[in-house]
Amino acid sequence: MSEQAVIQIKGLNKTYPRGFVHRYEALKDVDLSVKKAEIFGFLGPNGAGKTTLIKSILGLLKYDSGSIKLFDKDLDDTDVKNNIGYLPETPNFYSYLTAFEIMKLYARLYNMKDSPHPTSLSEKQSGFRVKHGMTEEGGTQAGLGQGEEDTPSPPPLPSGERNKVRGTVDALIKEKLELVGLIDAIHTRLRAFSKGMLQRLGMAQALINDPELLILDEPMSGLDPIGRAEFKEILRKLRKQGKTIFFSSHIIPDAEELCDHVAVIRTGKIIKIGTVSELVDTGATSVNITAFTPHPTSPTRGEEKISNNIKQLVKNITCNNEQCIFHVNDMEKTNTILSELIKNGFSIIKVEPVRQSLETLISKMIKEQA
Ligand SMILES: Nc1ncnc2c1ncn2[C@@H]1O[C@H](COP(=O)(O)OP(=O)(O)O)[C@@H](O)[C@H]1O
Ligand SMILES: [Mg+2]
Repeated sequence: MSEQAVIQIKGLNKTYPRGFVHRYEALKDVDLSVKKAEIFGFLGPNGAGKTTLIKSILGLLKYDSGSIKLFDKDLDDTDVKNNIGYLPETPNFYSYLTAFEIMKLYARLYNMKDSPHPTSLSEKQSGFRVKHGMTEEGGTQAGLGQGEEDTPSPPPLPSGERNKVRGTVDALIKEKLELVGLIDAIHTRLRAFSKGMLQRLGMAQALINDPELLILDEPMSGLDPIGRAEFKEILRKLRKQGKTIFFSSHIIPDAEELCDHVAVIRTGKIIKIGTVSELVDTGATSVNITAFTPHPTSPTRGEEKISNNIKQLVKNITCNNEQCIFHVNDMEKTNTILSELIKNGFSIIKVEPVRQSLETLISKMIKEQA
């Protein structure tokens, strides 16, 4: 069960019109698979095709060829749509409403009633289509974004229905606002919300129908470091609850500590896919050896105690009176250097591969492919 692919994309291609005759290839043969209860980071620079893929997954955009399965089903399956929570790149909310009111609005769009178990999958109504407008591809990005990022007007409710949205739904709203850390601002108007608070509200909104899959487009951009740390904590909590999270980002360090898998996209093509450690480990090509010098109290600096033999084997050495770090860029020489050091009276403290950060690695990959 844990290996079940929640998102399965095969050979996806998408082009946009460019001028009268040309088409721009925004996605080229994208293959991607996201497992249940994992956090998947979809990383790449601006304009790489992240939003295009996300909108394709959500059925907000028509793609040219390929296939997308969610929970092993087609996108037009109502159960599937109602099991997705979506946070757009720039969520827009009516600023004169309070957090509670906006959540209530979304609960109504999902036609959520009080009892029993308003959030169970079988009871979810076809709210997704209403909520996101299911926009077809427009000629321009602006045209596309607008329909789905603006808050849609709530559909009129029959007067008899109106009073039913109470109790359990209210409790559910509070639970979601609590989860995202907005419970104290529940009755605050959104015009007084900071960017970080709005982003967290967007998250609460995406969670209102208790979806199993969350799709978040650049959820952390524009947040300050504290806001980002808090947001990451929320995502971890959700993963613990068994939710699957697919998020796009151009901020790599966010993904490094959070994601189980990442995919790197550049100009519409996936150039790397794997776990963070798979990616980072393949980038490890050198080693640092730290060792105590033979006579730490002697006034001579550590370097003077190093034989020429060792100096020839390492790239460079940095020492203080107590210890030296030997930078080795040919990993195969590590054992020889270690035995030379021991022979020369050094005590080894640690041997560590020098890993590049995911950020360095990805920017290298992106430059290499340019
Ligand atoms: N509606 C559209 N019409 C034409 N080109 C578009 C449209 N939407 C996006 N593009 C282009 O497709 C490419 C990928 O865009 P997008 O998916 O928004 O990238 P990202 O989200 O990674 O920044 C960009 O070159 C962008 O200009
Ligand atoms: Mg985008």
